[in-house]
Parts: sequence; structure tokens; C-alpha cells
Amino acid sequence: NFPGRYAKPLTLPPVLAPTSVVEEGGKVVRKYYEVTARTATVPAGKILPKLSTTMLGYNASIPGPRIDVEQGQTVQLIVRNALGASTATFKTPSPISTHLHGSASLPQYDGYAGDLTLNGQKKYYQYPNFQPARTLWYHDHAQHYTAQNAYSGLAAQYHLHDAVERAALPQGEYDVPLTLSDAMFKADGSLMYDDRSHSGLWGDVIMVNGTPWPVMPVKRAVYRFRLLNASISRSYRPSLSNGASVHMVATDGGMMPKVQKVTQWRHGSAERYEFLVDFRSYAPGTRIELKNLSNPNNRDYDHTGKIMAFDVIGDAVPDAVKNWKIPTEFRVTVDPATGEKRLTDDPTKPLVNSEVMDLAPTKNLKVRNIRVQKDDVTNEWSINGDTWNDIVESEYTKVVADPGLGDTEIWEIENKSGGWFHPVHIHLIDFKILSRNGKPPFPYELGPKDVVYVGENEVVRVIMKFGPHRGKYMMHCHNLPHEDHDMMHQFSVGLDSE
Ligand code: C2O
Ligand code: CU
Repeated sequence: NFPGRYAKPLTLPPVLAPTSVVEEGGKVVRKYYEVTARTATVPAGKILPKLSTTMLGYNASIPGPRIDVEQGQTVQLIVRNALGASTATFKTPSPISTHLHGSASLPQYDGYAGDLTLNGQKKYYQYPNFQPARTLWYHDHAQHYTAQNAYSGLAAQYHLHDAVERAALPQGEYDVPLTLSDAMFKADGSLMYDDRSHSGLWGDVIMVNGTPWPVMPVKRAVYRFRLLNASISRSYRPSLSNGASVHMVATDGGMMPKVQKVTQWRHGSAERYEFLVDFRSYAPGTRIELKNLSNPNNRDYDHTGKIMAFDVIGDAVPDAVKNWKIPTEFRVTVDPATGEKRLTDDPTKPLVNSEVMDLAPTKNLKVRNIRVQKDDVTNEWSINGDTWNDIVESEYTKVVADPGLGDTEIWEIENKSGGWFHPVHIHLIDFKILSRNGKPPFPYELGPKDVVYVGENEVVRVIMKFGPHRGKYMMHCHNLPHEDHDMMHQFSVGLDSE
């Protein structure tokens, strides 16, 4: 019932305009934003050829409007819940809680699962944006509703820029956000959602920025793609149809110290990979597909092996774009006057994001074992034997870890659930992956991360420094039906024995 793949043009979600800004010394230091979660009628022809469908969207946009900020600008975001009446798929108006994934937010602004905004209510959030440049995303996080809310469309990218990234990587029309999702539809056009198995939902329609299998015209230039997997369960293995490598330049927490050339990668839910594709040597008229080679334990359908296509066009590009040299590594200097970091070619200077990427195991570091499992009796997923319900029943006193403020720890995440994979996310911090089953991480994972793909029977070690805030934060599986049933826990930072 789809008129061929690669028939519709890729669209970009709107960039959200601030309702007001505050300037100091000619610079914007504060930005105010508002979004409203509403039901959205997607007209026939946009997703389904002949039927309209009802989804949920921030400002009724699917995916939601993007927020763009510069490092050092504080953002205040008001989120309103106007989800109102039930949809054909979901019987109750959903509560919401909004999480900015990738941000070191204060606990009260982190979208705690139990911090619900009900229909008709609003909540103020504040984001500091002091971290290095990265691709973040805001999405719903309401407990037991996260999967259906995010699946229905409550997800959007958020780009944090800084001086190093502005100088190092393609910008503007050559900096392209791609948000991946999948869905299933019933014969009447309504979204189909069934997670009775609690194992996940794998749709037969693959969408990029809300359009099924789109095609994007590209000039003969180097493009930067910010690929976010916003699918609630599906993992991908993206690969270009002509076998060419991409240049991986950034992971969840921002730029990688060294650019990695890869031909495919395993991309779990909530992970962000930024990569460059060099279209300069292709003749106009060339079509290159972005395929999905898939991974074990997904449910594949006829066309889930395809993601989107790029059609090379002959339009002129400026010389600076034509002659740009793809970097192999990124180094930074610190401006002594302002403390601001700058990109440099000086090989004696530190690599970018060295604060995280230089973390190294030493003998006296605390190592914690985190086991992700399934309880065959209750059919619930757990972390170290606890479900989120256990945390709620403990009145949020139970924690899986209690590092002090500024402590560096190693977490050994062990997948004890047999045939399943779990993209495990830790809030607040960026981590570095040390090893997987005792072996080095994959080349494309050699950057700052906040989600790690813990594959079938894998044991992954990550290292991180806890801060800069004290408080309690969530950690969970980002396969959202797993998270909702009930593979989520919390840890405290700096709350013990102070
Ligand atoms: Cu992207 Cu706790 O979430
Ligand atoms: Cu999981």
C-alpha cells in the first residue's frame, strides 16, 4: 500500500522560535521557549497514501520542532499538556514528563518518570547548556507511558553548538538532522500499538523525520548527518548501498577525538551518531541508499531493510565547500582570556572531549555490577533484581548506586536476559565505553556516550565521573516497552555521607 520507496522528499522539522531572549553585551544568554503536546492529525498522503492518522506531537509536529542553542545560553522551556481526549489507539489522555536526553539538567528539570504533567497542566524546565556541542533530543518520559507517547510522536532533536564544533564540522544546509522511527498502522489508518509481550514493538514502516522512506537531493559536497534512533525498540545497522564508508565524527555526547571510517554500525534506540558522507565524486543522477542491514532480535518486514535515499544533483557549491578537507582528528586550545575552547591544528594540544575520553581505569576505582534481566514469572524486566515499581514503592529511597559528587566509577553492565539486547541509558553524565566482553569497543563508539548497546549476552564496561549536580537520576533500558515494564532504576549523586 506504499507507492514505492524513496518517493517522497525528506522534510526537516521546523526550528522552534524562542518566545523571547535576554541579551548581555550583545550576546544572547537566555532563551525562552514553549511547546504544547497535542494530538496531531497527519493528513492522507503524508504517511499513509489514502488515510489520515492520529499521532501526538509537540506543537502537533512530528517529529517535534527542533531547538537550536549555543553553549552558555540558558534555556527555559514551558511544556504544556493539551493531549485532551483519547485517540483511536490510546484510551486515556496521557500524562507527560519531558526529558532532555543528553543534558546535565538539575534533577527537578530532568523529566523524572513520576513528575507528571497532566492534561491541562504545564511545567517549567531549565537547561544550562554548558556541555560541549552535541545532538540532544527531548522526548516524553512519563512512567508507563513513555513507550506509547514517544511512539506516537513526542520526540524532537535539540542541537547544542559551540565554537569548536562550529569550526570543525559542516553547518547550515550541510548539517542535516535525521530522526528515525518505525510504526505499524491498522487497516483504518490508526496507529497500531500492542506491547502485551513487553518485549518491544517493531513497525513495518520506517520513517525519517516523519516521512516513510524519503529521498533527499544532495549537492556534490560533504554532508553531516545527525542520525537519532527514536524508534522505541528497533535497532538499525545503517550502511550505504554502494559500500562507501562514512566518517563518524560524533556520538551521543559530542565530537569524537578521532574520526572513524566505518561502513556499517549497530545503532540502538536513543543513540545518536553523527557522520559525514562525501558526495563530491559522484556524478549527478547517482542514487545512494541508506540501508538497514539489521541486527539480531528485531522483527524485520519486507521494507525494513531500507531507510532513505540520496539523489546526487549537479547544483553549484561554493569553493570552500568543494575543497574542504575531511578532518581525521579534532584538537582544542583554551583561550586564556575567556576560557573558551577553540579548534586547532596544533598536534601537541589535547584532543576534543578529553575530559571524558581520557578517563581510565585505575586500581582503586569502584566497579559496580549492573545486571539487566527478565523475570520469567512476572514477565517484567529488572535491573539488579528491582523494577521501577520497586523504586516507587520504596518511596524513591532505593538506588542502584550512590557515587559521591565528583567520583569516577566503572559500571559493568551485564546482559543476563538471554536472547535480548538492551540499549542502556544513564542520565546526567557522559561515559566512555571501556570494553565489551573484554574486547575493545567498536571504532564508531570511541566518543562520549550516554547510551550503550548491550547486545545479547554481552558484558560492557563503562567509565564516568558523576556530577556536576547532586540528586537522584534515572538509568534504564531505552527499548521503551522494556523501560515501561519496568527496566528502570535510579542512582544518587553526592547524597550519602556528606
Ligand atoms: Cu532518552 Cu531516560 O531517556
Ligand atoms: Cu531492554
